[in-house]
Amino acid sequence: MKNTNETTVNNPIASDDKPTRIHYVCPHCLGRLEREAATYMCHTCGSHFNHHDDYVADFAAAVTFDDWWMKDEQTRQHWLDKEAVGEEEYEIGLARNYVLPLLRKLKLQPDQTAVLSAGCGLASDTELLLEQGYDSYGIDIGNRVLGWSRRKCPQRLARADLREMPFPDACFDFVLSLNTIEHIGVVGDTTRVTPDYWEQRLRAMRSLLRVTKPGGYLLLSGLSRTIPFDVGHIQEVRWVRIHSPWEKFLLNYNDIRRLCRETGGVQSTRPLPLRGFFSWTRLRHNAFARPLLPLVDWLFGCLPPAVYGSWISPFWIVLVQRSDKPLPSNDALPSIDGSPPSSS
Ligand SMILES: C[S@@+](CC[C@H](N)C(=O)[O-])C[C@H]1O[C@@H](n2cnc3c(N)ncnc32)[C@H](O)[C@@H]1O
Ligand SMILES: [Zn+2]
Repeated sequence: MKNTNETTVNNPIASDDKPTRIHYVCPHCLGRLEREAATYMCHTCGSHFNHHDDYVADFAAAVTFDDWWMKDEQTRQHWLDKEAVGEEEYEIGLARNYVLPLLRKLKLQPDQTAVLSAGCGLASDTELLLEQGYDSYGIDIGNRVLGWSRRKCPQRLARADLREMPFPDACFDFVLSLNTIEHIGVVGDTTRVTPDYWEQRLRAMRSLLRVTKPGGYLLLSGLSRTIPFDVGHIQEVRWVRIHSPWEKFLLNYNDIRRLCRETGGVQSTRPLPLRGFFSWTRLRHNAFARPLLPLVDWLFGCLPPAVYGSWISPFWIVLVQRSDKPLPSNDALPSIDGSPPSSS
């Protein structure tokens, strides 16, 4: 975590004019925010946050996620010009081929459903869901916000920490936080966890459930801890990260169930099929890999449900349903900057 003034975002090229139905609250005390010329003021706790008329709100000016590709100017530019394009395609494919069909299956109708992508990255999913009629919002704390200048919905995007979100309780019908929870409770953008990593993930889970309506859903996903070859987090290695199946960085379905149990406020957890989740955007451009992709899709489609959340599955996708039970307070957990619990 560090102070960042570099993470400023250019004015967006266009903006959608669909009115937002959810209004930001103070992420520290959940008090009402007064919108002033360039800031949001909280009259309850005195905090203030920057915004710009055509520009995203910033609720986490003092913190950031130190993405590995920010290490020097050349890497940063290369990532934003090249890698980000592939990642946008991935986010769009995921939203179109997996999230939208799931929303339909859950009978969450576009005009009546508020959706949040927490850890939305480049926010292409937020934009696509908005275009499909959902009241859609996105937050992220890392440098992918630099890519938000390409989004058409700036008033729906905020720099915010998902452990301390600027939203009222129980305001979203569906929250997705994909490939993000493993990055909570780690040192910068590495795979090394902090001593309080579990408490930080508990805080994240509580926060995600806090903004989810009773009966609403939370969709989480990630690479499986139990498969020792990780091709998704290779910032510290060359091709593949080989790790112990008992490591603390990656999670699996059981870890999510334990987080839910310790958090409370959960009605059910259900592992979902992998088919449709990956649109293989990068591999589609590879002449050797392209013909094999239908086969991989078919193989994913053949996996029996017993495999979805099991230790042999390379990836887990979990649908959590929020119950109407109240959530415990965060007083016994360390704060997001690692300082000890307020009650101690
Ligand atoms: C691997 S990316 C996933 C992006 C997107 N959800 C996807 O599946 O392509 C993880 C994202 O989590 C964000 N992130 C990490 N810690 C966060 C936090 N505490 N609050 C909000 N976002 C966070 C990072 O900045 C990054 O954009
Ligand atoms: Zn406040």
